[in-house]
Amino acid sequence: MDTTSGIKTPYYLYDLDLLRQTLEEARQAAGRYDYHIHYAIKANHNPIVTGIINDYGFGVDCVSGNEVMEALHRGFPAEKIVYAGVGKSDDEIRQALENDIFCFNVESLEELQVIDEIASEMKKTARIALRVNPGVQAHTHKYITTGLDENKFGIHPSQMQEALDLCRTSQRLDFRGLHFHIGSQITSLQPFAELCNRVNEIWKEFDISSMGATIVNLGGGLGVNYEDPEGNPVPDFQSFFDVIAENLRIPQHIQVHFELGRSLVAQCGSLITRVMYTKKGVDKEFVITDAGMTELMRPSLYQAKHKIENTSNAGETFLYDVVGPVCESSDVFGKAVELPVTRRGHILAIKSCGAYAESMMLRYNMRARARSYFLDSGEFAKYDFLEKDLRNVV
Ligand code: LLP
Repeated sequence: MDTTSGIKTPYYLYDLDLLRQTLEEARQAAGRYDYHIHYAIKANHNPIVTGIINDYGFGVDCVSGNEVMEALHRGFPAEKIVYAGVGKSDDEIRQALENDIFCFNVESLEELQVIDEIASEMKKTARIALRVNPGVQAHTHKYITTGLDENKFGIHPSQMQEALDLCRTSQRLDFRGLHFHIGSQITSLQPFAELCNRVNEIWKEFDISSMGATIVNLGGGLGVNYEDPEGNPVPDFQSFFDVIAENLRIPQHIQVHFELGRSLVAQCGSLITRVMYTKKGVDKEFVITDAGMTELMRPSLYQAKHKIENTSNAGETFLYDVVGPVCESSDVFGKAVELPVTRRGHILAIKSCGAYAESMMLRYNMRARARSYFLDSGEFAKYDFLEKDLRNVV
């Protein structure tokens, strides 16, 4: 479908039917084990998208005060909001306490002490989970690996006893359990089985049950298929949860939480862009689009490959380097991309842009903010909301 007549490119196009199907499958798969899903709002905070996610009863995983406020503003209940991040500011901690969020995922001993102090000043109780750095290799890009010693995230097991002792003695810290997250875009289930084994060991070693824990949070990380999004529109949530259920050995009454971001939203979004120029290079031809790394920075930041389609032409294919207009040599969507004859004015769809595209949009080069549009019940829809409607509070 050519959805671009009269609409300024580039823009994000979200297929809300696919989003709903994905959420339904995730909900059903998790429901079989009574697992709880928190949506990692960092993946996409588009209000139409988050509004639909809220309809499915998921909680939210936030990594900034503004994300917490945005989640509340969109109607997610405070008791379903968890808040992680290695650098929570005092104001952000205060604000989260004022709003009685469910749980802080605490990333260091120092942060635990600060939360304890602020909660005491405010005469509040802070529910907390300790984020443990489990030392599990996720086999993903190094920039999105989070569970190794070299990563800034989580508390090293060598400091866990001290953290648990502080939780035990503090009047203001309400210890709820443990949090883990080993990385993102993990395409094999093996690292999740390894994570479970580490969780089992850590649970035993530190006798977490004796601390009155009620939850374990295993983070996100389930990957999507960027090579063949049409063939794999919905990730295999069932196999993911099956692996967890097979490998996790902690007491039955402990609630198991997940923070899924990419797997819930990536495949429902495309970045729609117009070809502005084609240009002959030495031994190659460039296709220069009006979208750039400012609308999708994953290829330039992580060498990610997104499938690109020319929706204006078909037939015999040629190889093109598809690049954006931004003044950076890394502003490349793909090298030697196979496309039908591609010319000025053609429309390209860059697939799997529902996660970490719009939410990572930049204003570099003073680029205009790309808008978002929707396919709803197969129909093109403009749902108006203003940028100022997004919360920007702290
Ligand atoms: N929970 C925590 C604590 C996280 O750090 C993350 C992602 C998630 C949950 C969600 O993980 P997911 O289910 O989306 O894999 N911008 C990068 C991804 C960064 C992920 C950071 N943490 C990208 O475009 O690939």
